[in-house]
Amino acid sequence: MSQIVPPILSVAPIRALVDETFKVLVDNLSPGSPVTVHALHHSEDQDYWEAYGHYISDHRGRVSVSDDMSFGGTYTGKEAMGLLWSMRPVPGSRTGLRLRKMNVSTPMLVQISVYRGHDFRDQTPLASVLTERWYMAPGVQRIEINEDGVRGTLFIPPGPGPFPGLMDMWGGGGGLLEYRAALLASRGFACLALEYFKPGELSSVDLEFKYFEKGFNIVKDHPKVMPDKVGLFGLSLGSSVTMYLAAESKVVEPRCCVCVNGNHGFGISVREGYIQMEKTLHKARVDENNASIWRDVVLQILNDSSLKLDMGKVKCPLMLVSGVDDQNTPAVEVAEDISQMMRAAGNEHLLTRLDYPDAGHLIEPPFSPHFRATNFIVHGKGEKKILLWGGQTKPHSDAQEDSWRKMLTFLRLHLCGDASPKAKL
Ligand SMILES: *[C@@H]1O[C@H](CO)[C@@H](O)[C@H](O)[C@H]1NC(C)=O
Ligand SMILES: *[C@@H]1O[C@H](CO)[C@@H](O)[C@H](O)[C@H]1NC(C)=O
Ligand SMILES: *[C@@H]1O[C@H](CO)[C@@H](O)[C@H](O)[C@H]1NC(C)=O
Repeated sequence: MSQIVPPILSVAPIRALVDETFKVLVDNLSPGSPVTVHALHHSEDQDYWEAYGHYISDHRGRVSVSDDMSFGGTYTGKEAMGLLWSMRPVPGSRTGLRLRKMNVSTPMLVQISVYRGHDFRDQTPLASVLTERWYMAPGVQRIEINEDGVRGTLFIPPGPGPFPGLMDMWGGGGGLLEYRAALLASRGFACLALEYFKPGELSSVDLEFKYFEKGFNIVKDHPKVMPDKVGLFGLSLGSSVTMYLAAESKVVEPRCCVCVNGNHGFGISVREGYIQMEKTLHKARVDENNASIWRDVVLQILNDSSLKLDMGKVKCPLMLVSGVDDQNTPAVEVAEDISQMMRAAGNEHLLTRLDYPDAGHLIEPPFSPHFRATNFIVHGKGEKKILLWGGQTKPHSDAQEDSWRKMLTFLRLHLCGDASPKAKL
């Protein structure tokens, strides 16, 4: 299978935001040649992640990843973005890894290569291209916040503003995670990534209203933010905080809330509720790989109505995004229970629900790899466990892509009064 001209590999756009699609083309192959298209990423934690698909070139000697079928590899079928969402650690890597971008001032670099044949290990690629995937669009301003005890990073979209605002909160793993807030700013929202405890330190900090209300007001009072157009975005524990503020705060009035796989079982206070939950976690089941399944523990908490937030008090539009296969939080049971509470209270018209079959707990921005189970440090004891998050790779990825678009539309509708495509960057 000698070739006179080497194959030409192209990726377009070569530099993009992480939620944008790309087109990968291989030209100048002999017709009917088997090739492997491979993506490799060297992470900030110094691990290697890869994805690949096996293809056969068409009669013109071309492979188009977005139009052709992969016959094997880490994904199969016609999958334009399989080279990103099916990424996994290379064989022989540490176990329980999760890929998360910590420095959003640099892009995620992905090396796309094409190899002859379907058995590509130890071969030299025929061609390679380095592509950049960004969370932060050009012109987005990144401001470190350490104000009145509140820690976080505020991202401001380019332009004069004023912009709608958001406060973004991640879950019980703690730490400062900026990537989703940076991406939301790239999509037009001034967004504060709020750090609300350091990893392993949950019970030592103030998890009461005040901290979150101060965070909210930092966004609201920023000169480039429309003060009456500030919403909340949370995942897991961050989503429980979001519901708590929406139902109970007398100080802040979020304009709308997006909650991904959280629960409303922290009615006494978020910290007390979380500590309560931790006490019962030793009862959690483990799966065949010794990964902890927390969902039943949370179900029991939800059974005690004295622990639940009164969701009937929510006064703003609320979007609940639920992974039906979430093994960490009983997301669908939670959403059902919230629907019932809101129906009984007469505010169910404020609720929008998105349930995704075979999606797990960690519903991330589009094309992020799927993590079914990862290492996790449990607070208090500092004990390292493997947590089962759930989900199947392909439907979970589809859920990430679909929910992101719908969340952006929801946020634009309630924070910009506009859901039309022109609001897109
Ligand atoms: C992030 O990367 C930029 C560019 O390489 C660098 O200047 C900056 O110090 C890094 N930030 C952190 C927190 O490491
Ligand atoms: C919830 O309470 C009901 C009635 O008390 C009980 O039958 C059920 O097993 C409980 N469920 C959980 C998950 O604890
Ligand atoms: C399972 O994980 C726990 C920690 O979560 C550990 O103490 C225990 O030894 C593990 N069991 C096995 C069989 O690996």
